Amino acid sequence: MQGAILPLGAEVVLGLLAGLVYVIYRQIRVPAHLQGLPRVPLTNFFKWGYNKTSPLEQFFEMRDFFLQHETYVTWVGGDWKLVTTNLEHVKDIFTKTNHTIEKSIPNRDYPESLFRRFIGTSVIFSNHEVWARIRRIISPAFSNTQPTRVIGEVTKTLIAKLDKEDTSRLVMDKPLSHMAMDVLGQTIYGFNFNALENPDTKYAVLLQSIVSKLSNPVYLLFPYLDNLPFFRRDDVIRDLDELDEYMYKMIDEKRRQLAANPVRDRANVDLLTLMLEACEDSETTRLSNQELRDNTTALFLAGHENTALSIGFWMYMMSKNLDLQEKCRDEVLSVMGDAPEDLIPTDEQLKQMSYLHASILENLRFNPPIPLIVARETSVDQTIAGIPVPAGTSVGTNVIAVQHNPNYYPDPETFNPDRFLQKSTGERFLPKFIPFGSGPRQCIAKNFALLNEQVVIAMLLRKYTWTLVLGEDGKETIWSTPFSMFRINNLILNLKARY
Ligand code: HEM
Repeated sequence: MQGAILPLGAEVVLGLLAGLVYVIYRQIRVPAHLQGLPRVPLTNFFKWGYNKTSPLEQFFEMRDFFLQHETYVTWVGGDWKLVTTNLEHVKDIFTKTNHTIEKSIPNRDYPESLFRRFIGTSVIFSNHEVWARIRRIISPAFSNTQPTRVIGEVTKTLIAKLDKEDTSRLVMDKPLSHMAMDVLGQTIYGFNFNALENPDTKYAVLLQSIVSKLSNPVYLLFPYLDNLPFFRRDDVIRDLDELDEYMYKMIDEKRRQLAANPVRDRANVDLLTLMLEACEDSETTRLSNQELRDNTTALFLAGHENTALSIGFWMYMMSKNLDLQEKCRDEVLSVMGDAPEDLIPTDEQLKQMSYLHASILENLRFNPPIPLIVARETSVDQTIAGIPVPAGTSVGTNVIAVQHNPNYYPDPETFNPDRFLQKSTGERFLPKFIPFGSGPRQCIAKNFALLNEQVVIAMLLRKYTWTLVLGEDGKETIWSTPFSMFRINNLILNLKARY
């Protein structure tokens, strides 16, 4: 009896193994139409992942390759992508998006995967009419809001928090991340998570736990595992149920408040309220509760790490270029004065800080938080970068390679804000500055994000001077997540209070 069971068990195991090998082979084989093109070796992907090599370090390691080959293929996130850094072709890809090129939807064929349940149908993960309708409703909310004061108040809390710590060796990762969370909490939901003062606040912990569990690469590559009894993730399902309950309660509450008190001061109201208000206009602009939940979650996710990361990178660059830090501070002090107290810049004052603004843009050129924009798929057969490709081909651009290309930016490895002070000479627009993407799918919150950086940085410059502290291994390891959406890691500064 036992003899009959064992071979059957072995057959099942062998069958599963063969299936697994086939699935892996399908994921890593180069499609026929991309064969023969220059290729980033697949082994690099695993090496970089293992060594936690940052995207900028990856670029430096393969700089010659990227400069020699404008168009190449690379394996990212489960398939081979055709990537170009030729600006004409980059423009082509950006402008075709939403026509013959689509934004790729993660786990598109597995709507029942937990990742899909989490991201829902939002402005980030949708296409064509669905996307156009959502973007039309959300965009005015962004142009109607100017949350300078909210950002300033959160920065005051950040400073108060830092002042309580040993500022001679401060790990900046968490404070910056919590600051970004508190700004977005108030500007998107009108709700203060208070993550700075209470990092264990329920919603913050819940979101972070969901994001970290859903980032498990095994489930991202093999989403159908969520349907197999042995692999079911009950803890994530529980977290998602809890998140939904919380979100829907918040939406109902906002709707009640809006009915009782129509919005008067648009500049200081949260995005969710502005979206709800837009929904009242007509049937065509109505977002369902589920869409409101999906889109506010999407905004929060899209904004949170990017904001923390770009402010962290800016502080890092200024710890390496102390003369520039001084120059930025001089400008801020000349505009806001040097009274020994935390002051929030006014919108008028921010406009006068042109060097600070230029330094923020230069940082986004040098350290783009989204180093590869490759979430794109051709929806019909066509030619991309001169190469005929069938529908379903992943395409995109390498933001770091574009922004560090000496043909587009002379002396690209010098951090030089002055390059963003020069007025454009009226040359034809080509997308060479693309930290926020370009074309119809450009970051919806570009101005909001820049405002956020300016306010926080101006206030930090008035309050502190800072230098870099090396990690215990004697290295500066400020970033270490190897692929897109990487987070700030181990930025250690010595902050000296000026008042
Ligand atoms: C420095 C900060 C930020 C950077 C560098 C950044 C970068 C980007 C990039 C590169 C894209 C385009 C991706 C693509 O084309 O595939 C994008 C899209 C988007 N971003 Fe941002 N972002 C930032 C901050 C924010 C913030 C604060 C929010 C929300 C409050 C946000 C919300 C979005 C949304 C909703 C989209 C999708 C737009 C669409 O597809 O129509 N971003 N962002």
